[in-house]
Amino acid sequence: MKRGWLIALEGPDGSGKTTQIQLLEKYLKELGYEVVRTREPGGTEISEKIRNIILDNANCNMSYMCEALLYAASRAQLVNDIIKPALSQGKIVICDRFVYSSMVYQGIGRGLGTERIKSINEAALDGLEADLIFMITIPYEEGLKRKKMQKTLDRMENSGNEFHKKVFNGYMDICRKYDKIEVIDGNRNIDEVHRDIINMIKKIIL
Ligand code: TYD
Repeated sequence: MKRGWLIALEGPDGSGKTTQIQLLEKYLKELGYEVVRTREPGGTEISEKIRNIILDNANCNMSYMCEALLYAASRAQLVNDIIKPALSQGKIVICDRFVYSSMVYQGIGRGLGTERIKSINEAALDGLEADLIFMITIPYEEGLKRKKMQKTLDRMENSGNEFHKKVFNGYMDICRKYDKIEVIDGNRNIDEVHRDIINMIKKIIL
């Protein structure tokens, strides 16, 4: 079976992932690759509906386990409908966040434990793993400042400084544990960050 590549971009809120993903998609397409860009939570009609429930500020009483299961549910639909079919057609899939976000935000930030989050997500991922993960680092205060300038904060972004500090430290921990994660300093200009990502991709997959 033909097999493409799954690249995930991770990082705290406001780290510039989305901009970097747009640049990466353009770069890979110019080289002639077939690229599918998607995001989590979301990426399918059903997953986008789940996203709206998760991020709605009105749902401030959502339990942490409900939150974790909704992220996994959104992921299950995305894996089934978009990611697996694209990979089996040999395409490159670039995903704005993946299961590492759940391990960090729900596992560490919410305190549910990374092992528990991993086991919840086993069913959602159905054996799928990312081939390459970029973690774009940025101090969490800086990231939230950027977000506040762009839009009204959603339920997750409104989870308070302590939560975001745990998320930031959680990403650092996860990066140390998984050597598949490439850490990129996101506190630089857009082109410099893009160049680092491209260089890494050339080394690993192109
Ligand atoms: P994202 O789409 O990156 O936010 P935005 O488009 O506003 O930059 O992610 C939405 C939020 O969901 C973000 O705060 C991170 C959080 N999140 C989790 O807590 N767990 C997860 O598994 C995922 C995928 C995201």
